[in-house]
Amino acid sequence: MPKAKKKEIKTIGVLTSGGDSPGMNAAIRAVVRKALANGMNVKGIKKGYQGLLNEEIIDMDRKSVSETIALGGTILGTARCAEFRTEEGVRKAAEICRKHGIDGIVVIGGDGSYRGAQKLSHEGINTIGLPGTIDLDIACTDYTIGFDTAVNTAMAAIDKVRDTSSSHERCSIIEVMGRNAGFIALWCGVANGAEDILLPEKYDYNEQSIINHIIENKKAGKKHHIIINAEGIGHSTSMARRIEAATGVETRATILGYMQRGGSPTCKDRYYASIMGAIAADLLMEGKTNRVVAFKNGEFVDFDIDEALAMEKQIPEYEYAVSKIL
Ligand code: ADP
Ligand code: F6P
Repeated sequence: MPKAKKKEIKTIGVLTSGGDSPGMNAAIRAVVRKALANGMNVKGIKKGYQGLLNEEIIDMDRKSVSETIALGGTILGTARCAEFRTEEGVRKAAEICRKHGIDGIVVIGGDGSYRGAQKLSHEGINTIGLPGTIDLDIACTDYTIGFDTAVNTAMAAIDKVRDTSSSHERCSIIEVMGRNAGFIALWCGVANGAEDILLPEKYDYNEQSIINHIIENKKAGKKHHIIINAEGIGHSTSMARRIEAATGVETRATILGYMQRGGSPTCKDRYYASIMGAIAADLLMEGKTNRVVAFKNGEFVDFDIDEALAMEKQIPEYEYAVSKIL
């Protein structure tokens, strides 16, 4: 039987979806410029799937992405979109793509955005996902766009809190982002030399063991006690009050919040996002669909979205064990 002819991709769209992350602009820039170099037309879709449903679609050329590689955030804007979670929403989005001549879309976002891309591909629009999240919580990849910038931002802030904490001989609870994932907390915990690291995947809510640890450290002459608490555990301010009452050590809470999601991307985020964006444009040109680009075991690869979403991401046991010893 003759093979079915692959769909020819003339025009692609690019959108960012879910939480923004530093490096998304480098990815958009690479998608645009590599797609143009491949002979395709490019349209920018503003504000994620919501913007697609609202037909906020613009033509993009090389110049549209000039002076963007060093910018934090996303020049296209991002959103969370409830309508796109419905069957009608996805069908309507596919119709809008056809109306604008968009044959394929690069979706830069997290797992949730991949689920949307998976559904859109079932409606006949070719889709390629790029891992855009500061949380590093996408199982198929060892790298996500924005994580490196976020941990470096958080690390620099925590160093500063540590200075004042030592001067005053205080305990500091520093809350970092990660509602469901503890990678930012783990990396900063190790990089900032924290005494305790509380990860959503690991913390058993045994506050007494933290209290005992602070008392032991105080007796041993330690001038500070840094606790990195992931957002998923939260309650840093009330935890600080309880710890101060139980230990007699002045305790303060600092919630780093959204500063971790902004700022100019690091070299690593600019570089990896650029290569991944170029790969996404190539995959679309080859007629691929329902794929995600990843960095796994030292190389850039791509996976089927169904396969990628079925994988589970876990905190590496050895690294977690080391964090407790150091
Ligand atoms: P992230 O992509 O960072 O994980 P979200 O989980 O908020 O962020 O997902 C971003 C958007 O992707 C959602 O607002 C929604 O529009 C779309 N999305 C998420 N899950 C689904 C799903 N199961 N089906 C269709 N679209 C989805
Ligand atoms: O982008 C990931 C993330 O920053 C998580 O760490 C955090 O829990 C979540 O997004 C917060 O998202 P929102 O913008 O909805 O507050």
